[in-house]
Amino acid sequence: MKILSIESSCDETSAAVIDDSSIKSNIISSQHFHNKYGGVVPELASRSHLKTISEIVKDSLNKANIKINNIDAIAVTSEPGLIGSLIVGSNFSKGLSIKYNLPVVPINHIDGHLYSGCLQDDTLEFPFICLVVSGGHTALFKVYSYSSYDIIGLTKDDAAGEAFDKIAKLMNLGYPGGPLIDKYAKSGNTDAFNFPRPMLKEGNFDFSFSGLKTAVRYFIRREFPNGVPEEKIPDISASVQEAIVDVLVAKTIRAAKKNNINSVVVAGGVSANSRLRERFQERVKKFNMRFVAPDMEYCMDNAAMIGFLAAKKITSDNKDNFKNLSFTVNPTALRAKK
Ligand code: KG4
Ligand code: ZN
Repeated sequence: MKILSIESSCDETSAAVIDDSSIKSNIISSQHFHNKYGGVVPELASRSHLKTISEIVKDSLNKANIKINNIDAIAVTSEPGLIGSLIVGSNFSKGLSIKYNLPVVPINHIDGHLYSGCLQDDTLEFPFICLVVSGGHTALFKVYSYSSYDIIGLTKDDAAGEAFDKIAKLMNLGYPGGPLIDKYAKSGNTDAFNFPRPMLKEGNFDFSFSGLKTAVRYFIRREFPNGVPEEKIPDISASVQEAIVDVLVAKTIRAAKKNNINSVVVAGGVSANSRLRERFQERVKKFNMRFVAPDMEYCMDNAAMIGFLAAKKITSDNKDNFKNLSFTVNPTALRAKK
C-alpha cells in the first residue's frame, strides 16, 4: 500500500510517501517568516500553505521516485490545528482524490505524534505510556493499539511548548522559543533560580504551565526591570527548562509505574528538547524501562507520521471505506476525552 500524506495543521507544510510502513520521503517546509511576528499568524500561515503545497507534494513524490498514478491512497491531517491551514491540506487532498480516484484517510494530528515512537522503532510493543508535548498540547496517553488509547493526563492551561515560547518572549529571544531556550540552557546553571514545578506533588497526571510563566514574568520584572541582560539568559533558560522537564519526566515515569507499563515514549515538538531526553534516559535506566523518542524530523510537525498511521488504518480490504470525502476539518479535536 503506497500512501501520499499531507500535513498542514500549523506552520509546517509537509508531504511524505509511505510504502507499507516504510518512509520513502518526508519533505518539511517550515514557515520561518512567522519569527518576526513573535508567533504564528494564522491568516499568513494558510496563505503560505496554499502557495507551497503543490511543490512540496511534487518534491515528496520525486524524492520517493514514485508517480502519483502508482499511489494507492492519500492521508491528510484533518484535526486539530489552525482552521485555515487545515482547510488547505484537506481540500488539496480531496482535489487529488477526485482527479486520481484515490481514497483519503483523515488523520488526527495528535494521534500522528502519539504513534511516531512506533514509526521510529518498529520493535516498540503495546501497551506503552506516551507523553505528547507540543506547542498546542501536553497530554499523557496509555496506548493499547493503533486504534485504542486512554488519555490519562492533560494540561489544565498552557501546553509545555507554549510555556517555552512565552517565556522565551519575556527574554526577547525570538520565536519559536523552545529550541532557543534549549540552546542557551546548555551553558547555564539549572539551580541558578528556583522556579515553581506546577502540580508536581499532586497524585494525578495533569499538568499546568501558566503559573510558571507568570512566576518567570514577575521574577524578570522584579530582578531585571530594564530587560534581561545577555549574561543572565543561560541561567534563566536552564532553570526554567529544568522546572518544565522535572514535571514532565516525573509524571510520565509515575504513570508508567502506576500502570505497570515498561515502555515510555515522548513525542511532539518539545520532545526535541535535549535536556528532556537526557533526563528521561537517566530515569528509565534507573527503573529498567524502555524509552523511545523520535528523530528530530519526526518530532516536529511532519507528514510521515500522518501517513504512517494511515498505513495502519487502511488495507486493500477496507480501502472503499475511505472514498467518502464528506469529512470536515476540526480545529480543536482531541479524539478521546479524559
Ligand atoms: O509539534 P510541534 O512542531 O507543533 C505543534 O503541533 O504545536 O511543536 C512546536 C513546539 C513549539 O512550542 C516549540 O517551541 C517546541 O515545540 N520545541 C521545543 C524544542 N523544539 C521545538 N521546545 C523545547 N525544546 C526544543 N528543543
Ligand atoms: Zn504537532
